[in-house]
Amino acid sequence: MAKQALQVAIDGPASAGKSTVAKLVAKRFGYIYVDTGAMYRAVTYWAMQQHVDLADEAAVVTAMQTLKISFKPGEPDQLVFANQEDITAAIRQPDVTNNVSTIAALPQVRTILTDQQREMATAGGIVMDGRDIGTTVLPKAEVKIFLVASAAERAKRRYAENIKKGIDTPLAQLQAEIELRDHKDSTRKVSPLTQATDATLVDTTPMSIDEVVAAIAEIITKKQSST
Ligand code: DC
Repeated sequence: MAKQALQVAIDGPASAGKSTVAKLVAKRFGYIYVDTGAMYRAVTYWAMQQHVDLADEAAVVTAMQTLKISFKPGEPDQLVFANQEDITAAIRQPDVTNNVSTIAALPQVRTILTDQQREMATAGGIVMDGRDIGTTVLPKAEVKIFLVASAAERAKRRYAENIKKGIDTPLAQLQAEIELRDHKDSTRKVSPLTQATDATLVDTTPMSIDEVVAAIAEIITKKQSST
């Protein structure tokens, strides 16, 4: 019998390794990978380009009407497009990173992106990572993972990634920014970052990427044979 095409939700705080792990898990199972953080980043980038006041929800929603976000496979990062424009690198720049929490706190923006994410996941065979996938976007996902790591470890990982991309932000500043984003993401009114009651907690602080991927793959394989 063909293996089940499941919905896999991977949530967790900033820089816990979600995208890296989610992408590898998707590849292993031949599933589609969707980075929902990149969608919030794309909206932030788009609104900033158009000089929209990011706290003005109506103006941001209007700007979104001319934005179509899409993904294409790419190495090492999946490619992200705003209409025809490749914004893969632009959405990782510090100006977008430091403003994205403001956009992610806007309820109408969340509703629009949530609808788009559900649409992408209807056929299953998908690994989606974010903050609210297991709780809000795909509450019926067959596999839910909540990925965490200490703030110090996450800052170290982000620092190493940034250096490769030519971004040179001091480690202490990165850790402070991560802690601030954690705080904003987990205390915002709409869809705050919380572990779904039926999610499996994976603390990656002492684990290698391969170990994390293997642990999640085992959970998916078990689920495939039990459903
Ligand atoms: O994972 P990331 O750092 O690329 O996410 C960017 C921002 O978007 C982060 O502040 C949290 C927010 N986000 C969200 O609110 N909901 C999601 N499903 C994904 C990301």
